[in-house]
Amino acid sequence: MNPTGSFKDRGMTVGVRVAQKVGVDRLACASTGNTSAALSAYGARGGMETLVLLPAGKVAAGKIAQASLHGARILEVDGNFDQCLDIVQDLADRGEAYLLNSLNPFRLEGQKTIGLEILERHKREEGSYPDRIVLPVGNAGNTAALYKCFRELVESGALEEDEVPKLTGVQAEGAAPMVEAIEDGTDGTRRWEDVETIATAIRIGNPVNAPKALPGIRATGGTAVAVSDEEITDAQRTLAGEGVGVEPASAASVAGLRKLRERGVVDAEEEVVCLTTGHLLKDPDAAAAAGSEPEPVPNDTDAVLEHIEEPSSVAGTVRRGASKAADSPLIPALVAGGLGIGYLLRKLRSKK
Ligand SMILES: Cc1ncc(COP(=O)(O)O)c(C=O)c1O
Repeated sequence: MNPTGSFKDRGMTVGVRVAQKVGVDRLACASTGNTSAALSAYGARGGMETLVLLPAGKVAAGKIAQASLHGARILEVDGNFDQCLDIVQDLADRGEAYLLNSLNPFRLEGQKTIGLEILERHKREEGSYPDRIVLPVGNAGNTAALYKCFRELVESGALEEDEVPKLTGVQAEGAAPMVEAIEDGTDGTRRWEDVETIATAIRIGNPVNAPKALPGIRATGGTAVAVSDEEITDAQRTLAGEGVGVEPASAASVAGLRKLRERGVVDAEEEVVCLTTGHLLKDPDAAAAAGSEPEPVPNDTDAVLEHIEEPSSVAGTVRRGASKAADSPLIPALVAGGLGIGYLLRKLRSKK
């Protein structure tokens, strides 16, 4: 389970525990929101001072509420996430705080559990390992952690080389340095100074884990793809119509898979797992904007009945989005998955 509602809990429990063991008293992270929520919770639990540096005006309401109530000092920086991380790295270099971004290797150790769970559960439920894992990419920590997990399994003899799922990253078009690097075949990423997307969790222009994640994408035969904000919102509605509520960055994985299937990069036979990384309530404003409007009705049963007889202009928004996607030849069938373990299993059945 992910107690603060995002996959960041996996690594943060380990990172904060290590900090506690070595006697650190001040923790710090830069964050697009979810890292700060997780650090604030575990920092509070460990009784340590916690600083979170956030890009002012660019963090979703649910995440700030979490950091606030857990008692972190919320430092709003007039800059983007990458600039917040520059400051946190300076603080760490000066010995003023213990850095808990995904540059911290203990964070990635914790996040490897996602890879283990995907393999374990897919094997149990589908009888095989997935061919591909599609995940949203910001700082590329999760991509790096999954690659490390699979490499270690191969080295230990628990997994065959050809059983490693193809790691496939999805970024928003307005913040896609990893996609650029994969398309251009470069060893590193170019720092994007101006980044923008509705998926604020992955509004990152300088993915610091790119040196670990790019080799992972390439070595596993994966790829990376950029999606528009409209495609992200459309995928968010589709998932919501299936009863799975996620924040925009999470929905990017499904949007990316759709695009790769449209382009013929992923064929209908492939067993694909899309990772969903953060709960819908993390970003209530995005959810409300993508969903239906409340309908005012009189305080009277007959009037309510009369009202619901009329076709609604808004109530079907989410359902319409879902059925449109379900009818789509690209996603003929979606089968159940679970957010509880931080990912959503989506098996794409071949088109009949
Ligand atoms: C909801 C969500 N999805 C995806 C990501 C990207 O993860 P990573 O930075 O490990 O690439 C983040 C990072 O903040 C996130 O909060």
